[in-house]
Amino acid sequence: MAILFYLSRGIRLALAQNRILASGELLQSFKLYRYRVVVSGLVLSNQLAVCPFTTLAYRPVYLCQRFSQIRGFVTGRSETKARSEFEQQGKEELNCKMLPVKPFERLPKTVVPVHYDITIKPDLVKLVFEGHESVTLKVVEPVDQIILNSLELELENIRIADESGQETNISNIVLDVENEKVTFKLDSMLQPGQYYLKLAFKGAIIDKLKGFYCSKYVSADGEERYSGVTQFEPTDARRAFPCWDEPAVKATFDITLVVPKDRVALCNMPVVSELPYEADPNLHVVKFDRTPIMSTYLVAFVVGEFDYVEERSTDGVLVRVYTPVGKKEQGRFGLYVAAKVLPYYKEYFGVEYPLPKMDLVAVADFAAGAMENWGLVTYRETCLLVDDQNTSTQRRQWVAIVVGHELAHQWFGNLVTMEWWTHLWLNEGYATFVESLCVDHLFPEFKIWTQFVTDTSTPALDLDSLKNSHPIEVPIGHPDEIDEIFDDISYHKGAAIIRMLHNYIGDDDFRRGMKLYLTRHKYGNTFTEDLWAALSEASSKPVGSIMSGWTKQMGFPVIRVTARQEGDDKRILQLSQQRFLADGTKDENNTMWMVPIEIATSRSPTTPSKSFVLEGETAEVVLDDIRPDDCFQMNPGQVGFYRTCYEPDLLKQLVSAIDHQTLPPLDRLGLLDDLFALVQAGHSSTVEALTLLEAFANEDQYTVWNRVCSALSKLSHLLAYTEHHELLKSFGRRLLGGMTRKLGWESKPDEEHLTKLLRSLLLGRMAMFDDPEVIAEAERRFDLHIKGQEQVPADFRSTVYKAVLRTGSRSKYDDLLRIYREATLHEEKDRIASALGTIKNEEILKEVLAFAMSNEVRSQDTVFVISSVASSKLGRELAWNYFKDNWDLFNERFKGAFLLVRLVKSLTENFASEEKAIEIDNFFKEHHCVGTERTVQQSVESVRLNAAWLGRDAEAVGIYLTSKTNAAVSQ
Ligand code: BES
Ligand code: ZN
Repeated sequence: MAILFYLSRGIRLALAQNRILASGELLQSFKLYRYRVVVSGLVLSNQLAVCPFTTLAYRPVYLCQRFSQIRGFVTGRSETKARSEFEQQGKEELNCKMLPVKPFERLPKTVVPVHYDITIKPDLVKLVFEGHESVTLKVVEPVDQIILNSLELELENIRIADESGQETNISNIVLDVENEKVTFKLDSMLQPGQYYLKLAFKGAIIDKLKGFYCSKYVSADGEERYSGVTQFEPTDARRAFPCWDEPAVKATFDITLVVPKDRVALCNMPVVSELPYEADPNLHVVKFDRTPIMSTYLVAFVVGEFDYVEERSTDGVLVRVYTPVGKKEQGRFGLYVAAKVLPYYKEYFGVEYPLPKMDLVAVADFAAGAMENWGLVTYRETCLLVDDQNTSTQRRQWVAIVVGHELAHQWFGNLVTMEWWTHLWLNEGYATFVESLCVDHLFPEFKIWTQFVTDTSTPALDLDSLKNSHPIEVPIGHPDEIDEIFDDISYHKGAAIIRMLHNYIGDDDFRRGMKLYLTRHKYGNTFTEDLWAALSEASSKPVGSIMSGWTKQMGFPVIRVTARQEGDDKRILQLSQQRFLADGTKDENNTMWMVPIEIATSRSPTTPSKSFVLEGETAEVVLDDIRPDDCFQMNPGQVGFYRTCYEPDLLKQLVSAIDHQTLPPLDRLGLLDDLFALVQAGHSSTVEALTLLEAFANEDQYTVWNRVCSALSKLSHLLAYTEHHELLKSFGRRLLGGMTRKLGWESKPDEEHLTKLLRSLLLGRMAMFDDPEVIAEAERRFDLHIKGQEQVPADFRSTVYKAVLRTGSRSKYDDLLRIYREATLHEEKDRIASALGTIKNEEILKEVLAFAMSNEVRSQDTVFVISSVASSKLGRELAWNYFKDNWDLFNERFKGAFLLVRLVKSLTENFASEEKAIEIDNFFKEHHCVGTERTVQQSVESVRLNAAWLGRDAEAVGIYLTSKTNAAVSQ
């Protein structure tokens, strides 16, 4: 018997007869079991399975570093024998000794910091900094050593003193680089009480977008300069000052910066004093007010040159938006959102924003989109700045979302913080839900909840249908494992299940529960269960029992529905649930969820006529007041996190409701979304999905079109690997043509927000489908734009740039590079850079790849450019080869950064053959890419799914598309 363990991060380890299998060794015989596995004291249970056919992919060397011992306990058998029968056989224990290396451990709780007094003096020319700190410590139990985090810092002058100033000798200092810790061994025991740890430190201001890092800008007089910025989440505060760098170890902070007098210095709190610096008249000493008790990952400081705009919110908070010098007007929109949102959240959460100020800073080099540091939120320029002439409607909406998201964290994350990274979703999933509440409040015309389904639920369902998904609550040890979980599961599934819960308990109880949770835990830390407890209390509903299945188990169910009419006004439905897997297989573990279900009928399509919780595998439901020719629909508003599979006759009825537009928009969308997922899983045919798509020709809603277009682009990625690609494009042109022409290129005065988005979407898609009319108009407009005669409106620029490159020559490419170089707005640079990959010329595509890595593109944007190249079949091959050939360079530049995770995903997941799946798998086996293990496994799985899809359906799709094209031609 052999067992394959799935450890955290998708690392697999194979054990057979108490030994580790050799690389590539094939299992001859195996059985399916369910295991409870304990790895270094961490229980990893539900995600475990035995994999039958694999030549095993695992990394013993790597694992040896991490885990001293792997133990597996067989606790149940899922297949051939019933559980009870198996259990009678007793427990079988597997034990596998590995190299005796210390496993990951959290910091001991015997000594904890209470307060930090930190002074930092950066040198923004030499790009180094020095500092010193005094940490007030509480010793809880007698100790003879102090362990804390420190990384790439030179430590000096370390002293430990008690309250009377009496020092304890440090006998030894042990650096543990792998675990990013330092230990001070003491000559004598410290008894419980208060002490001070004092030390000085030095470090480099690095260019890696984390820790205390530098960001490049050009000053008003054309000089290249650096600002100093921090990004500490998840675990990089330890690169800026030695600290207890875990979210649950909270303390207060007094921060002082010694900086040039002509620079702006910002920190979480307002300035309390500015004094001369004796040793250098060009510098001054800026001291900031004491912070509330908080986690280290939320500490931040920024030193640079900025302008700002400011406003006082109605609840008295001074809000400022800091922009590059000369661009303060671009901060107005963000300022408007921030100043409005603070009082809204105060009211919604029933808890005040506790700091006197809120700064939002646009930073030129920034890895994520934005970071919620308490009182000092940092943003990529493209996520904060809005320029009236040059910012697209889509971008403006995104800025509102990002500001809403980060400000939600000021409560959810900053005031109440997850106890450990396993509960990261409490921060991110929740903020992702709340950002929509806030944007809906400020900009009802965005109809943001209708966009939630396509932007949030669908990506989550897609990822979560993979076998290599992970539960929302995922065991996390070493810091390397954290970056990878800032993903569609933590954010989007997290937000989607909160939305499901919000709907289930209702807004009033939800708000009451939130207030309770935030008040009860303010300045503290929580586990997921604490949130359920508060919401349960507020709603008197069994929130914990319903929700824990959704956060502790990966995946989600598909609900199958059959129905029969009884008499004139009654319908009996049979529902059953089963985990939905993208490869169409059956879930071996027979996972079940408690599913809040709603059903509406065509008599009142938006108010459910039935709401209940499906608890077991099946249920019978009776709908009253429904005539034989009425139809019903599951999951109105697509609030439930599940897929629906109707029996064929029911589906037919609903499709005709799409034609007549009697089905509400989100449900039209849901039908398509579910059908596409079922097609991918091989439960339905692609031809059926294409037939459904045709029912959308008269659609008028942006969000539905958005889903139609993403379905078409998925098909386009796949069919690019067949000879039917051109047929699909002409199918797409016919489907989108009517609406595109109706909207035209001119926006009308007072046009709706969503109409603007729809026009950009359709024109962009039509360009990708090589529509001659759209391309000709784009070329005409581009010419005028380039000549400086008439600017292309921001909403069309992306389409125009891509369109002219599609048929384009080198001269068009050169034109675009020129305007790229001239552009000062990041958004414009990004727009151009992400269009470059559209060109079909192989030589130029290679140049685009080199350009992506050149110093003309900031590291933060490299990924966009390469992804744009990887979006076509030709470019994907080139980009993947380029990545492999330049692996060392990529690894050096992006190692340990979540940008690498995103790059790996976009480079690989759209391939569609078994050979590629093997190639990708092998490449990453040989080139270990820290923090991307699970992503690689997900991509490999997606590539196999794509291959299977083509194998099943390509031929039939070809026949169908040919007949459609012929019919269109003969018309
Ligand atoms: N806390 C994150 C930023 C972050 C991401 C830190 C990854 C460390 C690693 C922040 O709140 C966030 O979620 N930012 C989003 C923007 C948001 C609107 C989805 C981002 O950066 O993409
Ligand atoms: Zn966030």
